[in-house]
Amino acid sequence: MKPLAGLRILVCGKGGSGKSSVVTLMSHVLHDQGYNVLLLDGDASNPGGLARLVFGLKKGPKPLIDFFGGRERVECPVDDPSPLTRKGDSIPVTEKPIDLAELPPSYYVQKNNITLFQVGKIQNSYEGCDGPMSKITRDYIVKGEHVMLIDVEAGIEHFGRGVEKNIDIVLVVVDPTYESFTIAERVTKICNLMGIERVWVIINAVQSEFMKSTMIKELRKKKTEIFGSITYDHEIAKAGLMGDAIDGSKAKNDIVKIAKKLEDFMLILPQNRSNKKKGKILDELKSVADTTYKKMTSIINRI
Ligand SMILES: Nc1ncnc2c1ncn2[C@@H]1O[C@H](COP(=O)(O)OP(=O)(O)O)[C@@H](O)[C@H]1O
Ligand SMILES: [Mg+2]
Repeated sequence: MKPLAGLRILVCGKGGSGKSSVVTLMSHVLHDQGYNVLLLDGDASNPGGLARLVFGLKKGPKPLIDFFGGRERVECPVDDPSPLTRKGDSIPVTEKPIDLAELPPSYYVQKNNITLFQVGKIQNSYEGCDGPMSKITRDYIVKGEHVMLIDVEAGIEHFGRGVEKNIDIVLVVVDPTYESFTIAERVTKICNLMGIERVWVIINAVQSEFMKSTMIKELRKKKTEIFGSITYDHEIAKAGLMGDAIDGSKAKNDIVKIAKKLEDFMLILPQNRSNKKKGKILDELKSVADTTYKKMTSIINRI
């Protein structure tokens, strides 16, 4: 099994920091490396989202919230923290993951080995908040050997709804703005409180060495762990401007390095796949021999 298979990776950060672009490029890179990639568009506020960036489509697949019975059935986890279940079935999806064969094909877009789902989009005024979609983001697990990348909406509100519960790695995308640093600090604190230790910052849209070193300095002051850096890339900016899919780009090389580092890290952590329970990560780290721990630290510091 490949090192990242079986993981759910949440990509979060400030609005416009580059979350969706990073998820898109990461899906290409992991696909090139032979992974089955699942993408979960968990951003209810962005009408285009990953369907455009990854596949160049104007419209995404049917929202998963419909499959699970709509807002009438799925409640915001703050009001009802109970696990997500299928219609007419009381077993949580987290215990009996979704089999793609049970899902009508209208609920996903699939090309090569990349499959996109979307939780739902806010369409109408007075529709209500996107809390119910957060429950799907939190609990949507699919049977099989794949890596799932989850693109969430801006900011930290979703953490207040517990979306990090079934997450293995949180990547915080940080653009060169002070506000982004503050969000990274808060995400790190919240996740650590929840027992998630793998909260790693990716600095994005870096335009110079000075900018990069300033970002690193500020983020270290805020006690965040910097995992990688992505250069500013005109191709990405152009796709953003024209409403196109992101194709090849020089930023992809940076993502290749980040993906490799993720693999390295997961390979040296024992029981990385079986241990999905939060709060166990510290024990996991403690159980790793000293030498391995040093190795991990050196990987972390390899920005
Ligand atoms: N590395 C980058 N280089 C240049 N432009 C970028 C980069 N990353 C993101 N962008 C641009 O920034 C804007 C916001 O990116 P997006 O991925 O939509 O952010 P988010 O999903 O966090 O809101 C888009 O116009 C995108 O093209
Ligand atoms: Mg986005």
